[in-house]
Amino acid sequence: MKKILTVGVFDLLHFGHIELFRKAKALGDFLTVAVQDDENVVKFKPGTKLTYNTDQRCYMVASIRHVDDVVVYSSAENAVKENDFDVFAKGPDQNNESFQAAIKWCEENGKEVVILPRTEGISTSLIKQILKG
Ligand code: CTP
Repeated sequence: MKKILTVGVFDLLHFGHIELFRKAKALGDFLTVAVQDDENVVKFKPGTKLTYNTDQRCYMVASIRHVDDVVVYSSAENAVKENDFDVFAKGPDQNNESFQAAIKWCEENGKEVVILPRTEGISTSLIKQILKG
């Protein structure tokens, strides 16, 4: 049983997120998605206005068939330390200090790190921009 972990905000769930879950699940047998709690989303990306709260974002992610389990996390570093997995699947955009610490921890603890390419042409920020008109 190969366990995969991926993390993110997942506000305004979209095609790019579903593709991420599909690709992450294809790396193994069991996919855990960690959803960042409201307080830390704002801490890591000041000025972010979330549409959905932590529970609502977890509920949406848990409804996707590629996803086997959903947990809440504060920082990427804590997410890798607190969860049981073999492969940490991350996006190329997930590069802040906490992600760098998470990758280092994975390397030191025998966990594989896989960078999954983003789906072109879609993002939460773009959806918000389009809706603004
Ligand atoms: N992701 C992806 N393809 C996209 C958008 C996101 O693969 N088109 C992935 C990111 O690489 C990350 C995860 O989805 O691994 C969570 O990204 P998140 O920041 O929640 O979504 P975005 O749509 O990128 O949000 P924003 O525009 O606010 O950055």
